[in-house]
Amino acid sequence: MTDASRQEIIIGNWKMYHTVDSSLAFLKAFIPLVQHTPVEIYLAVPFTSIGPMAELAKDTRICIGAQNMHDASQGAFTGEIAAKMLLEIGARFVIIGHSERRRLFHEDNAFINRKMRRALIDGIQPVLCIGETLEERENGQTEQVIRTQLTECLADLPLDKLPNAILAYEPVWAIGTHQPATPEMAQAVHHQCRTLLTEICGDDVAQKMPILYGGSIKPDNAATFLDQIDVDGLLVGGASLTPETFSQIVNCRSPSEMKSQKE
Ligand code: PGA
Repeated sequence: MTDASRQEIIIGNWKMYHTVDSSLAFLKAFIPLVQHTPVEIYLAVPFTSIGPMAELAKDTRICIGAQNMHDASQGAFTGEIAAKMLLEIGARFVIIGHSERRRLFHEDNAFINRKMRRALIDGIQPVLCIGETLEERENGQTEQVIRTQLTECLADLPLDKLPNAILAYEPVWAIGTHQPATPEMAQAVHHQCRTLLTEICGDDVAQKMPILYGGSIKPDNAATFLDQIDVDGLLVGGASLTPETFSQIVNCRSPSEMKSQKE
């Protein structure tokens, strides 16, 4: 299988921005702007916006999802949300292990691994986030950190369901800082991830699983990342909040510039 078989995916991660009203206004303005894109568009939105947005997006190619979930199927976990609850209101994917969840809410690899298992079993597509801090990069630990995160987060998951997962490499120091990695840095880590995926999950999973880059993506740098052979898409935070900037990022790919033309 060649990398041309992996569909390019661009995910907007809204974090804790947009009310239901402003989410729907975004979508109404955004849909006509991205009608001709060859990429898959995902929007990870606040829980309250999922239902209304999924309804409005149902005849489009835009996929609505969540930014977090719990690993239990139900239970006494005040304030948490289960995969089945998300699926019921139209969420089709969920971000798991974003660095803000790891740093601010103390999520560790073991918890993230359990969430991954639950998402795969319950049938919601997980987007697993990994990435090193600035200190770890400066200490030359990037490779080891990525190895540990991938090994622990993907441990003992159902291999038949894993090709449905998405991996996002987001260097923590590049998130929300206006200081993206260079496309070459991203390619090097993505290549390492692909090799590690082969080691941990086998070649089939490694070839099928899309690996996205995230961290200070803007309309003017998006294409340079997508041009890298192992970069299958983007995870976009701040620049996904307005229809104008996010559509410019999505539209940086015309049908003639798809992955198969990279080689
Ligand atoms: P950013 O965020 O694009 O604003 O850097 C990316 C993310 O947190 O997923």
